[in-house]
Amino acid sequence: MRIGVLTGGGDAPGLNPAIAGVVERATMAGIEVVGLKRGWQALAIRENDRHIVKLGPEIIREYSRLGGSKLQCSRTNPVSPQNDRTDIVKENMKKLLLDAIVAIGGEDTLGAAEVLSERGLPVVGIPKTIDRDLAGTDYTLGFDTALNVICESAERVAHTAESHETIFFLEVMGRHAGWLALRGGESAFADVILIPEYPFVVDKLISILKEQQKESDPLGFEHRYKIIVVSEGSHIQGEDPTRRDSKLDEYGHYSLGGVGDYLKGLLEHEFKHTRYTALAYLQRGAPPSQRDRQIGRRFGHSAVELVMQGRFGHMVAVRRAKLAVVPLKEVRKSPSLVDVDRLYDKERLNVKIESVLVDD
Ligand code: F6P
Repeated sequence: MRIGVLTGGGDAPGLNPAIAGVVERATMAGIEVVGLKRGWQALAIRENDRHIVKLGPEIIREYSRLGGSKLQCSRTNPVSPQNDRTDIVKENMKKLLLDAIVAIGGEDTLGAAEVLSERGLPVVGIPKTIDRDLAGTDYTLGFDTALNVICESAERVAHTAESHETIFFLEVMGRHAGWLALRGGESAFADVILIPEYPFVVDKLISILKEQQKESDPLGFEHRYKIIVVSEGSHIQGEDPTRRDSKLDEYGHYSLGGVGDYLKGLLEHEFKHTRYTALAYLQRGAPPSQRDRQIGRRFGHSAVELVMQGRFGHMVAVRRAKLAVVPLKEVRKSPSLVDVDRLYDKERLNVKIESVLVDD
């Protein structure tokens, strides 16, 4: 038996441990593994010799501790309505003698995997995205590492913010979903958290910040500095998210970024000192955290199990803190977004503070 493994979409810490997990389990079962480089591109073009690499047990140790993807990523969409390459994918699978594909990706890569599986191709999925917004799973590879970077970065900028009494915008990723901002900001005790799911009003933001400053004075804190964790997809009510450029990728997405800078500009007349830093790729490029290594490895093992059982059209997942198997078509459901009513305090523009204790 021969399995092809690919990584699509944006890179995320945990991809390499997942590839290593696939190789580890496959090797134990006497299954060969071929690395398909640059996501779906490896199967969607005819001249693909430069996209194919044999993966043996020697790569396991090296891959296990690295961020990014040693197989490279791309946002190639093999089932794009404008350029459907299903036939080429089928031809390539035959040419490479592949019995199955393990696709590691987010909503786009696994969405394409699902369509190909509906068309009869033997595909299984492994979920990844630092945004943690994929439907069908409670965890996606990369989220934990990115959160740790956000938390540590917020602490770093707080030194500058405190020293210069600054209103500091720390922009984090999260195209549609505010999970990185919400959970990163929560862990960093951010003063304000802005998420895509709740478009805000600038006057309200200003009054919250001024009120917070006023309240700290009589207590003797004089906490004039503020850390605002802002998701790249967050936006002012009635306005669109801020785009980095006007290019669309093959799945129809714009690149977002710059909202923190925009807000800094809007607030600089109200406050003495405002600053902005976007974490951008720094939050994606870190070495995988313990969690991303462990879950990545286990996802890899389980994906091979699915292949051995012939359970194509499924992906591995985490559901209620346990490893699980779900149909790939789950990824087509609405993305997992922050439930604003339950988790977000619209008055404070911050994470809701409430007791979550339940009787044992
Ligand atoms: O979907 C993952 C993600 O990291 C988003 O948070 C971000 O908007 C996007 O990818 C950035 O994509 P690119 O790598 O194409 O700039």
